[in-house]
Amino acid sequence: MLKLGVNIDHVATLREARYRGQAGGEPDPVKAALIAEGAGALGITAHLREDRRHLQDADLFGLRKAVTTRLNLEMALVPEILEIALRVRPDVVCLVPESRAEITTEGGLDVAGQLDRVRFYREKLNAAGIEVSLFVDPEPAQIAASHEVGAQFIELHTGAYAHQYHRKQARNDEIQRLSAAARQAHGLGLLVNAGHGLNTENLPLIHLVPHLIELNIGHHLVSRSIEIGLAGAVREMLAAMAGYPG
Ligand code: PXP
Repeated sequence: MLKLGVNIDHVATLREARYRGQAGGEPDPVKAALIAEGAGALGITAHLREDRRHLQDADLFGLRKAVTTRLNLEMALVPEILEIALRVRPDVVCLVPESRAEITTEGGLDVAGQLDRVRFYREKLNAAGIEVSLFVDPEPAQIAASHEVGAQFIELHTGAYAHQYHRKQARNDEIQRLSAAARQAHGLGLLVNAGHGLNTENLPLIHLVPHLIELNIGHHLVSRSIEIGLAGAVREMLAAMAGYPG
C-alpha cells in the first residue's frame, strides 16, 4: 500500500500571514496533523526552515508530542537545525536544499556535489536513531551518491513531472526518468518516496513509477481543504493512491 505523508507547512504559512511574531494564532499545524492522521495519513511532514518562514520551533515540538504515525522533518544542512532535530527526534529526517548552492538543476539536493557534508549529517542523525532521506532529482548521479553516503531513503523530486503534466510527451519523459531512478535506487537497497507538486489530477500516472513507499503531499491538500475540509482532501487523495501496484 502506498502511504500518504501530509506536509502541513502551508497551514503554518497561513497562520504566519496574520500572526507573525505572536504566540498562538490560527490555523494550528498540530491540529491539522491530527485531522490528517484521523483521515488515514500515515505520516506528517514538516519543514523547519532556517528563516522560520512558516513552521516555528514550538510547532515542531508540539508535533513530536502529538503525531502518532511517523513524523518526517524536512531540513537543510544547517548546524542550528541539526541540533534541534537531535532534540526533537523525528522518526525520519529528509534533507532538502534551501540555499541556491545546494540545489541541482531541477531543484533537489545536490548530494553528489557535497558527499562529505551530507554523510556528516546522515551519520549524526542515524546515531540518534533517526532515519535519513534525501530529496533528490531523478538523476543517476544523485541516486548513486545517496547510496554512497549511506542514506536509508530517497525522496524523488516530482516537481518537474508536475510542472510538465499538461505536455504529454514531456510528462511521459518525466515518468520514465522517475521510474528509472526508482529502479536504480531500489537496486541499490534504498527505500523510495516521492513528492512535490502532486495533486489528484497528476497522481494517476505516478502509479507507473515502481517501488514507491510514501508520497509527501502538501499544497494540494491544504488548497483542497478550503473546499471540502482537510479530512475530505486526505480521503480523496487516498482514493487516488489506492490500487498502486508497487
Ligand atoms: N517533499 C518535499 C521534500 C518538499 O519540500 C515539499 C514541499 O514543501 C513536498 C514534498 C510537498 O510538495 P507540495 O507542497 O507541492 O505537495
